[in-house]
Parts: sequence; C-alpha cells; structure tokens
Amino acid sequence: MKYRTFPKTGEQISLLGFGCMRLPETGGENPRIDEEEAIRMIRYAIDNGVNYVDTAYMYHDGKSEVVVGKALKDGYREKVLLADKLPVVFIKEEADQQKFLDEQLRRLEVSTIDMYLVHNINEAYWEKVKKYDTLRFMKEKQEEGIVKHVGFSFHGETPEFFREVTDAFPWDFCQIQLNYMDTELQAGVEGLKYAGSKGIPVIVMEPLKGGKLTDVLPASVRAYWDGIAEKRTPADWALKWVANFPEVLTILSGMSNFEQTKENIRILSDADANALTQEELDVIERVAAEYNKLIPYSCTVCKYCMPCPVQLDIPYLISLRNEATIFESPEKISETVKSFVRPLPSTCIACKQCEEKCPQHLPISDIMAESARMFE
Ligand SMILES: NC(=O)c1ccc[n+]([C@@H]2O[C@H](COP(=O)([O-])OP(=O)(O)OC[C@H]3O[C@@H](n4cnc5c(N)ncnc54)[C@H](OP(=O)(O)O)[C@@H]3O)[C@@H](O)[C@H]2O)c1
Repeated sequence: MKYRTFPKTGEQISLLGFGCMRLPETGGENPRIDEEEAIRMIRYAIDNGVNYVDTAYMYHDGKSEVVVGKALKDGYREKVLLADKLPVVFIKEEADQQKFLDEQLRRLEVSTIDMYLVHNINEAYWEKVKKYDTLRFMKEKQEEGIVKHVGFSFHGETPEFFREVTDAFPWDFCQIQLNYMDTELQAGVEGLKYAGSKGIPVIVMEPLKGGKLTDVLPASVRAYWDGIAEKRTPADWALKWVANFPEVLTILSGMSNFEQTKENIRILSDADANALTQEELDVIERVAAEYNKLIPYSCTVCKYCMPCPVQLDIPYLISLRNEATIFESPEKISETVKSFVRPLPSTCIACKQCEEKCPQHLPISDIMAESARMFE
C-alpha cells in the first residue's frame, strides 16, 4: 500500500481508504448488510495496509456504523483513522448535534472519532450550519478530545462556494467528489487545487463515480479500452488518475465485494503522485470524450432555467438523466434520486417557464416526466 502524509500530524495515511457506504448486502426484498463478508473485507483491507475507514450516520440506513464498529473490534480500532460525519440534513435544533454524535459513538462502540466531518455541505445545508452554530460545536468537540480532526464533505454547486466554505474555518481536511468525468462538477479540480494551496489535504470520494466507470461500459468506451495495447482494468485507470494529484491524501472507494477490495489494494499499492505520463493522461481524456459523446441532453448548466416555481434543481436533474444514458445505469441513478433528491422530478407541473428561458431549447418538462418514469 502507498501512503501519504497527513500534514497536521505527520501520520502516514493509506492511499486507499475503505468507504463503508456500499458494503456487500444479502439479497431479497429487504437487503441487509452481509455482516460477515463486510467485516472480512474491512479486516482484510486493514491487514493489507489500509488505515482509513469512512462511514456516516445514514449509510445503509444507519447500519454501516454498527458493522464498522464490529469490524474494528479485536484490536482493529487502534490500527485505523476512523471517519464519521455529522448528519446536517437531520438537524432540527442545536441540541441535535450532540445527540447525533452520542448516537454515533454508541453505534460504533468507540469513545472517540478521529476524522469528524460536517456531512454533505451544499448551499442549503451551509445555511443550517450557520443557523445551528455547527462549526462552534465541531470546535468544542475537538477541544474535548471526542473528535480529533475536523473536516467537511462537499457537494455544493461551484468551486466559488467551495472556496467560501474552505475559508470559513480552520479545517484539518476536506472531502470532495472527484473522478475523470467530474473534473468540473462541484469543487472539481479547481477546488482540489485551492484546498492544496491552503495546505488542506483532500480525501476523495466517488473515484469510480460510484461504480459507473466500471459497471456496464457503453460499446464505444469498451471498444476504446479494448484497443489500447496496455491492458488495465477501468478501475485501475480511474483510481490512478485520482492518485496522480499530489493534493489527494486518501482515495475512498466503496468496495462491494472481496475481489474489488483486493483489486483496489493492488492498484493503490502501485500509484504515485505525478506518475502518469502524458500518453496515459491522453488515454483517459479520450475515454472521457467517448462518454461525453453519449450525452442525450446538452445542458451547459447556465442555470437560466432557475429558479423553478416548484423548487426543482433542474440542471442537476438533467445531469442525472444524462448519466442514466451515458453510463447505462438507471438503477443506480434511481437509488440516488429516491434517497437524496428532493423535490422529485414528478413534482414538475409542466409550466414550461424554464423552457422559455433555456438557451439550448431543451424540452425540460418532458425530461422531468421521463426522469420520473425512469427513476421514481
Ligand atoms: N460525504 C459524502 O457526502 C459522501 C458521498 C458519497 C460517498 N462518500 C464516501 O466515499 C466513499 C467512496 O465513494 P463511492 O462508494 O461512490 O466510491 P466509488 O469507488 O466511486 O464507487 C464504489 C463502487 O464502485 C464499484 N467498484 C469498486 N471497486 C471496483 C473495482 N475494483 N472494479 C470494479 N468496480 C469497482 C462498485 O460498484 P458495484 O457494486 O456496482 O460493482 C462499488 O460499489 C463511499 O463509500 C463513502 O464512504 C461520502
């Protein structure tokens, strides 16, 4: 396993971190985490050099923290930095913050959390963070020693907003979504570089775009990969693309089976910053271009369509609809929509105000109806 230095403490952190949002599940109508297999995978990863484990309050309906707690028994807790997140989405009053942290410690069966993040900061949740004085709470818990290092995970809309959040607190680290298809999404490469310029190490999530870059490959992308002389898996290319950035401290992957765990350990045991050649970077750029050719609705996120009278996040919903075609993954998008997107696309009242303003003349109300059919 390769390691990178956590600037605050000088600790060596494994380049692969175990993301516990996509643990293996039992089948059937009400799938549960396959505890035995999940614990075997997490412990195997730790035995093979992984020393960063990431979970959150809502992963697997609250069961991820419980299973992580079990996996970290028998001496494993001391071998890792344990990351967990304050669920801003559920906070209704200031006192909730302490209640959530207490519940998390109980579920995990630990007395401290090493890396505690304000979860999922976007423009709306940032207002809640201010309203409930969350940053003061985080500082207080750090001073009490319950939480060692304070960070935030980011899903806001722009690099400008990422800079605002980054500048608002003496963060020890931050977490952003980054993969070779999302270079300009949310914080993007621009945000990564900004955090780096301030000496804030970056934890990367969704390096395989939640599995969309590895699952069902469109024919044109598969043909391109097949035509390359050097045989590597799509996961190998994608993880090494992220590892190439020196600003990245750890790459979280949500491994769902034992083979993926073994493969990602292998890949990130052989990856360095600034190690990719120009030819390799060109290959990845070509693959991204192949994916981009498949985009059905060419939204440029100019946001002229906004605000929507029923508060739909139109550009985001169009991006999800596009992803369902590009990555041939409507089932995965459906999970995201049902769990995280509000209001749902079916809320659209087809008033068509947005269509009058869209410079690309996109049939937005039809796209919303199509999205409702596909995802809801
Ligand atoms: N803070 C936040 O707001 C936030 C948001 C998202 C994620 N996270 C954290 O970041 C972690 C990483 O994000 P992610 O889970 O989206 O990571 P990811 O690596 O982009 O996606 C994981 C998925 O990729 C596929 N995969 C992984 N390794 C593979 C391999 N070697 N070969 C083929 N497919 C492979 C699997 O999909 P299949 O099961 O379909 O094969 C797996 O479920 C999460 O687990 C979570 O801990 C945090």
